[in-house]
Amino acid sequence: MRRSWHGGRGPATSERSRVITFDAVTKRYPDGTVAVDSLSLEAPTGEITVLVGPSGCGKTTSLRMINRMIDASEGRILLDGTPVQGIDPPTLRRGIGYVIQQAGLFPHRKIVDNIATVPYLLGWDRRKARSRAMELMERVGLDPSLAGRYPFQLSGGQQQRVGVARALAADPPVLLMDEPFSAVDPIVRTSLQEELLRLQSELRKTIVFVTHDIDEAVKLGDRVAVLRVGGRLAQVADPRTLLTEPADDFVREFLGHDRGIRRLQFVPTDGLRLRTDLTVKEGAGRGVSEPWLLVVDGDDRPLGWASGARPGELERFGTFVHGRDSMRAALDAALLSPSGCAVAVDEGGRVVGVAARESLDQALAEAAHV
Ligand SMILES: Nc1ncnc2c1ncn2[C@@H]1O[C@H](COP(=O)(O)OP(=O)(O)O)[C@@H](O)[C@H]1O
Ligand SMILES: [Mg+2]
Repeated sequence: MRRSWHGGRGPATSERSRVITFDAVTKRYPDGTVAVDSLSLEAPTGEITVLVGPSGCGKTTSLRMINRMIDASEGRILLDGTPVQGIDPPTLRRGIGYVIQQAGLFPHRKIVDNIATVPYLLGWDRRKARSRAMELMERVGLDPSLAGRYPFQLSGGQQQRVGVARALAADPPVLLMDEPFSAVDPIVRTSLQEELLRLQSELRKTIVFVTHDIDEAVKLGDRVAVLRVGGRLAQVADPRTLLTEPADDFVREFLGHDRGIRRLQFVPTDGLRLRTDLTVKEGAGRGVSEPWLLVVDGDDRPLGWASGARPGELERFGTFVHGRDSMRAALDAALLSPSGCAVAVDEGGRVVGVAARESLDQALAEAAHV
């Protein structure tokens, strides 16, 4: 169910997306600093490619060479096979949205006009540009009543959403994002990340996303390129491969010590064996001689664990959506509960079974061999 930006007029976004190729690209600043050193990398069409690495490793420089805010010293960057060096910057940037940290909004322009910046530049009439901006506000999860405000009247998270909406305004096939969520608090950051993934599942842009946060990289990237200081590529891989097979000590170190646990977020739960004999309806007798039973209401929603040792009291539980959430979520759900079991629910929150210790153990053992 793919939606086109213009309600069916114009081509579907995915057909206009672009593959970006770095071909042995080097950037040497006038003072001699080599910010990017012979970088070869491909950002495939319709995917999120994340550039991640410590401060100063050349992420921003790499990104800005794509839209020619910075020109490469050596090598070529190709957009669908055409060197960007041969495209004049205004034309190039028309097809490339750019989002930066702290949104970079124009402080003296209303939100709606900030979002409509590029459509105005492209000469759209004011009404069309504004209605496009209103449509985008909704798309990125902003209340339309904010349209008439100025940036300083919005929270950091809201400003960041405006930044994303502005970058999307002219429906560019390529989106460059430079640490867009780094300046907001962790809870807002999580919701912005989720919103981006949701948007991308509809839009399928070619996105190059820069961050220094490996968790963000692994969460958002279809492919993750790890850079080291000096602008050298240490590894490029899908997140799961990166966590399983770091190329060297630098990458291993950068991934952190809990990469084993984090890798579980790529292990599915649909194969996890569930028990259905550990649930009882509220008010029914125990009947079964299990140490823990999960009490559910008339709609099969979980109420809590009842233990034989403490009759009448319900203990806390953790849930995961069977088949949708990962083994990491299932394990987390198990660890939240004194029963040590994870409650499997469907998308509607109804209990479909219980993952007991044995099946979690078995799934973990299998995951270790993947
Ligand atoms: N205009 C410039 N002149 C000289 N050196 C620069 C310039 N811009 C960035 N650098 C240097 O290039 C390196 C990479 O910078 P940058 O691409 O901003 O890294 P990152 O975004 O990964 O933090 C750093 O050592 C930085 O100090
Ligand atoms: Mg930077």
